[in-house]
Amino acid sequence: MRVNAAGTHSGENTLAGRHVLSAEDFSAAEISLVLNTARVLEQDVNGRRDFRRLLQGKTLTTAFFEPSTRTRLSFESAMLRLGGQVSSIQYGRSSSSEKGESLQDMGRVLSGYADVVAMRHPENGSVAAFASTASVPVINAGDGANQHPTQALLDLYTIFREKRRFDGLTIGFIGDLKYSRTVHSLISLLRHYQVTLHFISHPLLALPDSVKGSLADGRQSLQESPELGKALRDLDVLYVTRVQKERFADPLEYEQANRNYQLNRDTLQHSKPDLILMHPLPRLQEIHSELDSDPRAKYFRQAQNGVYVRMALLALLLAQFPPHRAWATD
Ligand code: NCD
Repeated sequence: MRVNAAGTHSGENTLAGRHVLSAEDFSAAEISLVLNTARVLEQDVNGRRDFRRLLQGKTLTTAFFEPSTRTRLSFESAMLRLGGQVSSIQYGRSSSSEKGESLQDMGRVLSGYADVVAMRHPENGSVAAFASTASVPVINAGDGANQHPTQALLDLYTIFREKRRFDGLTIGFIGDLKYSRTVHSLISLLRHYQVTLHFISHPLLALPDSVKGSLADGRQSLQESPELGKALRDLDVLYVTRVQKERFADPLEYEQANRNYQLNRDTLQHSKPDLILMHPLPRLQEIHSELDSDPRAKYFRQAQNGVYVRMALLALLLAQFPPHRAWATD
C-alpha cells in the first residue's frame, strides 16, 4: 500500500528534528511519508524486518497535564517497541508546574533529559509555548480545544487502511465540533483532499469558523445540518465525538448543548454497507455497545493504529527512518 492520494514523497525525511504542533504544519507529501512509514512498521509487527532497536538509546518524555489513556500509552508503547526508553510526568502533579514553573522554563529543562517530548495540556497554545524554548522535537498530544495532530494522522491512516483512498469520500462529523480538537486537526489534514464533508451538530456545538476557514481553497464541498437524517445514506465515513464537558465555561450551556444522542443499529440501518464508524474514544453513550461487533465499527482498530502512526512519527522526528532507501512499502 502506498499512499499517493495527494502527492508522493521523495523519500526525503523533511520531518527530522521538527516539532509537531498543528496538523496544519503537514504538507500532503509529509502526510504520505508518515502514513507509508506507519504501514511499513505495522507490517513489521510480525518481525519480517527488525525495527526493535531502531530507537535504542533514545528517550521519550510524556508530559501529560490532562487525563489520557490511549494517547500517552500508545506513544509509550510505540517508543518501547522501537527499542527506546520512556520517562513521564502525569497530570503535572509530580512536576514543578504545581509550584508555578513556566512552560518555557520546563521546555529548556526537559530538553536536557529527553530526545523527544510528547505533551498534553488543557490550554490552547500551551504546547507551542513549551516548544518555543525546547531544543528537542515536541509533539502536541492535545492542547485544550485547539489541536491534536497525531490523533488526526492516525484517523487518516485508519481511513486509508479501510477505504484505500481519500479523494471522492463523503465524511460526516457528528457531536461536539466546537471543542473536539481531534475534529479540528482531522479537518486540517483533509484540506489536502477532494472530499465532501458533512458537519452534524447542535448549533451550540457547530464547527468554529476559524476551522472552516482552513478549507477555503474550494476543493471540498461542505454541508451542515443539526441531525444525521438523510446525510447518513451518502456517508463513507462517520466520525463520532463525545461532548467535551470539561471545555464548557458555562455549565448551563453544556446542559443545553448535550443531547445525549446515541447511534445504534436502528439509527444506522440506512447507511452504506461499507460505512466506517470512527470515534477517537473515550466513548460515553454516543455509540451503543451493540455496534461494537458490527463490521462497520472501526474505533478499536483506530485506537490500535495509533501505535503504528506514533512509531512512524517518533522514528521520523528522530531521523531514524528510513534507515535504508530500498525498503519500499507494499
Ligand atoms: C480525544 C482527546 O483527548 O481529545 N481522545 C484521544 O486522544 N483519543 C477525544 C476526547 O477526549 O473526547
